[in-house]
Amino acid sequence: MTLELRKFEKRDLAELFSWFQSEREVLQWAGAALSWPLNKREFIQLMRQHRGPQPLREIWAVDHGTDMVGHAQIYYNPRLRTAGLGRIAVAPAARGNGLAAPLMELILARAFDLAWVHRVDLLVYSQNEAAIRAYQSAGFVLEGRRRETTPIGSEVWDTLVMSILRPEFDKRTERE
Ligand SMILES: CC(C)(COP(=O)(O)OP(=O)(O)OC[C@H]1O[C@@H](n2cnc3c(N)ncnc32)[C@H](O)[C@@H]1OP(=O)(O)O)[C@@H](O)C(=O)NCCC(=O)NCCS
Repeated sequence: MTLELRKFEKRDLAELFSWFQSEREVLQWAGAALSWPLNKREFIQLMRQHRGPQPLREIWAVDHGTDMVGHAQIYYNPRLRTAGLGRIAVAPAARGNGLAAPLMELILARAFDLAWVHRVDLLVYSQNEAAIRAYQSAGFVLEGRRRETTPIGSEVWDTLVMSILRPEFDKRTERE
């Protein structure tokens, strides 16, 4: 399926927010830095970082034709030659159809398109099997587990750290 990245706009907010119905879902998707209930003003603050020729953060809508079917963010740290992926999501109605692979391909190509990026990393909660599978399939390597990072209700979640380095990415793209 052909997907496209498009800069996320204020008009996309209501649709994106409709994908998450509980604090648990928002936490799993976005980590503890976003409030529950989701807050437009807070998100617009983040969107302000997606400006200028070298943005600190890029916030992407992922479109299939005229439908927004996904979301992803990239946070850049030039000093560390690292791009952090986050807030990756497929719209609930589109999940389970193999969209994560083309989405990850697009977002990784975008991050590694910057010549200085050597490492792309991300955090994912350890119970998020679909996300972990998607990241492994995209070439991410498990680096470690931060134990009991995130209390929610009666549970405490662990956070996994995963990454892919430029030579690993290049080897995969050569094979394709
Ligand atoms: C994580 C997410 C983006 C994956 O997208 P998706 O459309 O559901 O996943 P896909 O259908 O492309 O499948 C991706 C992989 O996960 C597997 N998978 C899909 N649903 C699964 C499930 N419920 N449990 C276990 N594995 C699952 C698929 O078999 C596939 O594995 P493969 O790469 O070995 O073939 C999507 O589930 C999502 O948006 N979740 C909510 C937000 C979120 O948690 N984001 C991650 C933040 S770190």
